[in-house]
Amino acid sequence: MRPVYQSCDCYTSHSAQVVGLSAGTLAARLLELPTIELTVNSPPDAPAAPLAPDPLPPGPRGPAPLVFANFLFRPGAFLEGTRDRYGTPFTLRLSSERTVVLTDDPATIKQVFTSDPTKLLAGVGNEVLKPLLGPRSVLTLDDPEHMRQRKLLLPPFHGERMRLYEEVVRTAAERELARWPAGEPFAVQPSMQAITLEVIMRAVFGISERGERFETIAAPLRDALDAMADMRRLFVLQVASSKRNGPLSPWRRFREQLLHPADRVLYDEIAAARSDPARAERDDVLALLLAARDEDGAGLTDAELHDELLTLLLAGHETTATSLSWTLERLARHPQALARLTEEVRAGEGDDYLDAVVKESLRLRPVVPAVARYLTEPTELGGRVLPAGVHIAPSIYLTHRNPDVYEDPDRFFPERFLQRPTGTYDWIPFGGGTRRCLGATFALFEMKIVLEELLRRFDVAPETAPAERIARRAITFSPRDGGRVRVAPVTATAR
Ligand code: HEM
Repeated sequence: MRPVYQSCDCYTSHSAQVVGLSAGTLAARLLELPTIELTVNSPPDAPAAPLAPDPLPPGPRGPAPLVFANFLFRPGAFLEGTRDRYGTPFTLRLSSERTVVLTDDPATIKQVFTSDPTKLLAGVGNEVLKPLLGPRSVLTLDDPEHMRQRKLLLPPFHGERMRLYEEVVRTAAERELARWPAGEPFAVQPSMQAITLEVIMRAVFGISERGERFETIAAPLRDALDAMADMRRLFVLQVASSKRNGPLSPWRRFREQLLHPADRVLYDEIAAARSDPARAERDDVLALLLAARDEDGAGLTDAELHDELLTLLLAGHETTATSLSWTLERLARHPQALARLTEEVRAGEGDDYLDAVVKESLRLRPVVPAVARYLTEPTELGGRVLPAGVHIAPSIYLTHRNPDVYEDPDRFFPERFLQRPTGTYDWIPFGGGTRRCLGATFALFEMKIVLEELLRRFDVAPETAPAERIARRAITFSPRDGGRVRVAPVTATAR
């Protein structure tokens, strides 16, 4: 039984921020009215009555740092516990500046993903990433700038280009898998990260070998990621500093110490690519981005390119590696699914089950728990008017566990995706709308190839230990022990 929604009167401070509807929204509203009302009561330029916000949904009442600490350190249990106690949607006050309403309702999520992106701001929702990725990252921008950059970034990640990356993924996987120990339990996460970092670096910069140039770029990025994964430091930064970009901000110092070496190599790579006489023949992402032009014929500046490259490198590698680690963690605990997948891969007859396994793994263990949009005006969502100034957050984690959507939601059961396709608003590991992950096709493609290479080479031993707990690594939900498995090499004939 799902808990019944309870109302509360905790909303007090936002009623003064009520603003009017824009002309576009007003026109859309007017078009929904019967003609007679339109002509008699509503002249086209009449000011619209502002929406009066409803009380915010209930949620934990403790001090914000305590709520934030729970959100950070007990990620899955805290979200599920809060849902069980308050029902959904519920409200989390994470800091004085960040009040988040989480929902797991596909109809509300559809509203969020299809709303006007100039009123539900994802860039502000991702504000926490700004000190790291910079102010010109596609993740931290809002429209119209966001759309301009997104259009320029899309072509390299178009489905048809995936063939070009296939060899890159297979080679990186082969190299890393050759080092896997036989017969001993080990954590796969570092290995998966090595593969996905190599893949994204080679796709972005066109680096063909893992030599000195590769290491010069990879080393500072690895350091930055490891430091970002230090949750205690992230907690202190969040609580200690609300002014993230001020001159004395610990965020700023954190970034300078960690990312300056990476900044330098990124600007060097951009300069080298700009002056490369053979650039027109290159098909790496950087070369394509340098050639890209917007509708006014303008290209990306060096500063824009820097922030976008950093975004692709960071967003594109940790997420995919963690998803792969979870997939193995789940498979090892589900011997039937593991056996069926191994058989399909080795028979080389299609990839339907592999596709279903990857989707089920991203459903049950989504690595990004929620996406957020900041409301610029009071907005009706899910039958309630939320005030300006709060974030509405489709909770990926809770939506994927919503029993109204998924039968037996806690069960790892890839077959469910052989029977029904994934829904746009209820299977959302990559978010949605005009902000849907740019690398989704790339990530799914990469995950499937790595799993294929792995299962062709190794038998994965079934695991009887309890499921690994969810731990936060930077912003991702990761397996606490790194996805520990035991493998045995397969003889050449068995492949
Ligand atoms: C399994 C792997 C991945 C997962 C689970 C994932 C998840 C996400 C999510 C949840 C978002 C936010 C969407 C929203 O706000 O609605 C996002 C955005 C983004 N992701 Fe991914 N991602 C993955 C892999 C990748 C890869 C491989 C790349 C690049 C090669 C990438 C690049 C991006 C970019 C550039 C954005 C910003 C899009 C925008 O704001 O327009 N991601 N991703």
